[in-house]
Amino acid sequence: MLRILSAFSLLISMCFFSQTKLNLIPYPQKVEFQNGEFVIPTSFNLSNNLPVNETEYLKNKLKLKFSNAKNQDAHLLYSKLENQSKPNNEAYSIEISSKQIHIKSYTDQGCFLAIQTLIQLFETQKNGKIPAMKIEDSPKFAWRGMHLDVCRHFFTIEEVKQYIDYLAMYKLNTFHWHLTDDQGWRIEIKKYPKLTQIGSKRKESMIGAYVDDTFDGKPYGPYFYTQDQIKEVVKYAQDRHITVVPEIEMPGHALAALSAYPELACTKGPFEAATKWGVFDDVFCPKDETFTFLENVLDEVIQLFPSQYIHIGGDECPKTRWKECAHCQALIKKNNLKDEHGLQSYFIHRIEKYVNSKGRKIIGWDEILEGGLAPNAAVMSWTGIKGGIEAAKTNHFAVMTPGAYCYFDHYQGDPQTEPNAFGGFTPLDKVYSYKPIPAELNAEQSKYILGVQANLWTEYILDFKQVQYMIFPRLFALSEVGWGTSKPENYKEFENRVVEHFKILDKMNINYAKSIYNISGKVIPASKGVSYELSTSQNPSGIKFTTDGSEPTSNSSTYQNPIPASKAMNIKSAYFENDELKSAVSSQNFSTSKTTGKKITLEHQPSENYSFGGAFTLVDGIIGNVKQLGKTWLGFQGKDVVATIDLGEKTNFSEVYFNTLDNKGSWIHLAKSATVSISDDGKNFRTIKEIGKEEILSTKGKINIKLGNQNAKFIKIKVENAGIIPAGNPGADSKAWLFVDEIGAR
Ligand code: ACM
Ligand code: ZN
Repeated sequence: MLRILSAFSLLISMCFFSQTKLNLIPYPQKVEFQNGEFVIPTSFNLSNNLPVNETEYLKNKLKLKFSNAKNQDAHLLYSKLENQSKPNNEAYSIEISSKQIHIKSYTDQGCFLAIQTLIQLFETQKNGKIPAMKIEDSPKFAWRGMHLDVCRHFFTIEEVKQYIDYLAMYKLNTFHWHLTDDQGWRIEIKKYPKLTQIGSKRKESMIGAYVDDTFDGKPYGPYFYTQDQIKEVVKYAQDRHITVVPEIEMPGHALAALSAYPELACTKGPFEAATKWGVFDDVFCPKDETFTFLENVLDEVIQLFPSQYIHIGGDECPKTRWKECAHCQALIKKNNLKDEHGLQSYFIHRIEKYVNSKGRKIIGWDEILEGGLAPNAAVMSWTGIKGGIEAAKTNHFAVMTPGAYCYFDHYQGDPQTEPNAFGGFTPLDKVYSYKPIPAELNAEQSKYILGVQANLWTEYILDFKQVQYMIFPRLFALSEVGWGTSKPENYKEFENRVVEHFKILDKMNINYAKSIYNISGKVIPASKGVSYELSTSQNPSGIKFTTDGSEPTSNSSTYQNPIPASKAMNIKSAYFENDELKSAVSSQNFSTSKTTGKKITLEHQPSENYSFGGAFTLVDGIIGNVKQLGKTWLGFQGKDVVATIDLGEKTNFSEVYFNTLDNKGSWIHLAKSATVSISDDGKNFRTIKEIGKEEILSTKGKINIKLGNQNAKFIKIKVENAGIIPAGNPGADSKAWLFVDEIGAR
């Protein structure tokens, strides 16, 4: 995956609302409270007509004694409603009186969803009592999905079943199983045994942040699911009314398949399953042999998965090999295709025709729109919402999974307090704020938005405990967004329910992120240098801090006003409730200099996604952290950094320093040159030093320019962008990114 990391924007809601009465997630569409209470009995009597599967589920989840009873004596009574002309299969109602709980639904699925509501009412009740009420409920969106990548890292069927259970608990209904990718083929295909014999292993795996490019040296695999195991998972999901949508990637992300069957590529190979994360040039070659192979694979996949949709990937397929392949070029000519993008479209159309002939439909990532969408295809909109909009406007269904809101491999708190993640910043309130229907669509077009899904790519997710951590509590937000009862303007009320559901996760021994308790820090200019302002979405009097590098305790200073950071120092902060540490400890180093907190202007503004705190970021006293691309750095695509700093008065200095990044995989290149000029009036500048590419290369981006003794009021720094990315690099011919963190002077 080659995503440029999205902005690290802190949106802290500071409003407080009183707690809702019911601790339900997702919150039901309609709740009417009535007089009275249902007291949870020691022996819970069930009516005989409850669906068997749903009864079993309930009995397994609630630690109560159960027995059967006639309708009038049952604590839990069920009525199956007559089918109206077109009932919502997922609709249900629950009436709770002091004597009885009565579930009504059209289908067993509706009953199952009602039982989830009931279990939550039991688990979050106070004093063994549930208020009398009537709940009428049904989801807004038909597709409420979670994806799991089992290729970058593998998870056992027991773990996959747990994952499916989490979906069920929170009324999600679709499990998107990402089964094939460059780094491993994970599904047994009887006709092609080498796919799992060879393609389910890799030599080693990349470790650490992507920029480090280091490997663990440990063979990984063979890891795959047998067809019997797959059937077991599909049955397990069916019992929970969850549809499993398998994904078989094509034409890109195919290296593991090509390692087993190199004859399906444009060039001879040999190939091996990828050990790095990213996007690779060797992809399926659209020859007849490849289509036969893929059709045979899909035959077995269709047998195993009863889902209406089969996900065929389609994303991130470089055209490098196709451009140089005689077969591919001849195919483009023969079919009058415009170019390689036309060939991608040809590929997807041909696969769609096959899948349709088996009575199924295809869904694919945004890029299946390239060169024209196949007639019945649905789009999974991930690079943003454009793909979904385009699909809906042309009467194609779309599932919304935009990276900025729905990629759960992003950080959900300050990266310094989190396990290593892909990057980006998608905290709970960001997920909760998502509205799946794009504003651009009218009512008719909106019907094509099938729903919403979150994706969990596992490059940096090494075990199942970390899977839990990445999805919780964000899955709660997704659940309510998909159900259609989210109220981002009442985020705080939602957060109160989230905290109640942490207790359920605790009981199940599920690991989850406590980032909502974390302290946010913001640097603000002060009369001398800068100050550090701390905030929390919780009770502000719970913030404790230290400035001497020691760990904060409940006895540390209570935060009241912004903390002056006029010298180099380390500020540590944490959130406490009743003397108990609730958050991670946030730590911020300040490295102040003669520019810190001074007035700065930029000739060109940074790109929107990497504009963090604007120009001020470059004089906020914080040296950039490579793990926080969106936070402490400003990013400029194709533009120079031209910064003028007003020191306020004539000042002595003898060096200027800053860092720039080198991460060619993400199109980030070192600067070409750097120039320092000075002035006393801010108008007439005199260049005093220029350094070139060689010198910058030799510093690996940690630039320190010695100037001799200088005295001036203004310093101007020009850092020259590398320009157009040269051939042979990722993103060749595109504009390079230039990242700068802090411009200091001593
Ligand atoms: C994707 O994230 N490459 C769909
Ligand atoms: Zn080819």
